[in-house]
Amino acid sequence: MSVNLRDSWRIGGVDIPTRVVLAPMAGVSVQAFRRQGRRFGAGLVCSEMVSCAGIEHRNERTLGYLRVGADEHPLAIQIFGAEPAAMAEAARMVEAAGADLVDMNFGCPVRKVTKTGAGAHLLGDPALACRITQAVAGAVEVPVSVKMRRGVEDGSRACLELGPRLVEAGASSLTLHPRSARQMYTGYADHSLTAELVDAVDVPVIASGDVTSRAKAESVLEATGASAVMVGRGAQGNPWAIREIVLGETAQPSREEVAAELIHFVRETVRELGEHRACGFLKKFYGWYLGHGRFPKPFTQELVRLRTTDEVVTRLLAAAPGAAALALELEADVPDEEVVLDRLPISLYGGG
Ligand SMILES: Cc1cc2nc3c(=O)[nH]c(=O)nc-3n(C[C@H](O)[C@H](O)[C@H](O)COP(=O)(O)O)c2cc1C
Repeated sequence: MSVNLRDSWRIGGVDIPTRVVLAPMAGVSVQAFRRQGRRFGAGLVCSEMVSCAGIEHRNERTLGYLRVGADEHPLAIQIFGAEPAAMAEAARMVEAAGADLVDMNFGCPVRKVTKTGAGAHLLGDPALACRITQAVAGAVEVPVSVKMRRGVEDGSRACLELGPRLVEAGASSLTLHPRSARQMYTGYADHSLTAELVDAVDVPVIASGDVTSRAKAESVLEATGASAVMVGRGAQGNPWAIREIVLGETAQPSREEVAAELIHFVRETVRELGEHRACGFLKKFYGWYLGHGRFPKPFTQELVRLRTTDEVVTRLLAAAPGAAALALELEADVPDEEVVLDRLPISLYGGG
């Protein structure tokens, strides 16, 4: 049965207007990225993984991840940790910050995370994974979801046993990226496992991995019965991919549109992270935006070498003067707000 990518669906009581979810990506999913994802048609956006220990210790940088804009909803904030009580406390903070869903990371394969018992470690420790899920689901009113990989080792089918247990423990939705933790990003996402997971649980399943086009999104939804697809790397510097997937609009953006989106992204990120952090953070985005044959490679290299974001914007405007008016239009739509959490100004972004 084919699903219309523009159909709405629900996780618990949360209405999600389209079948495309913007993936949580550490070092990428800043507020500017999430807002842009919503503007281009993602039905649900997600923060990058936030350390529950950082939240517990009221680390100012970590709390910066809990900044929620009025135009981001529905938004999931993802937390990671290995301690049920600390995860429950972090979930309460996430709910208080205004997130519509609390997502838990049971898939991060990075050793720095797994050695603490968090992330993909939990795929091999189902009892702890269930205790965490139960504690978090019991701590908040908003729905709780889990994002996981297939298992720790190549060929593992651990997610199929763990999934139903997590649902029993209180998860209202599961996202599966069907690679093993060991695989990192090599090989391909085996969505036959996603189909098996869909059959094994009675909550919505989101299929993550290698979805970069409408054709792929439709084939994954059709083959798996998943409720939605998640798009990660395909949307980096390329929000037009989301529009293509959701709406089937295949028109490529003009150079002016690309430059305007990048200028707006730069300005929003500077507001979020401050000039110093934003300047380094943004460098990887230049190639992502300006690639795809949109601008010549030496131009990207030139932007990466510039020392301030003002210089980057000036250079972009010189290359695409028509971008100025478009960037102003984008700016006009940003809600004007200041968020203060736990009496700490949320001005910095970072670690966790
Ligand atoms: C740079 C990067 C950072 C990521 N960070 C996270 C994260 O914080 N939490 C998470 O659950 N998954 C994270 N992921 C995994 C993605 O959410 C997604 O599951 C994976 O990239 C597969 O989807 P894709 O092929 O569409 O990129 C990250 C992936 C990338 C490439």
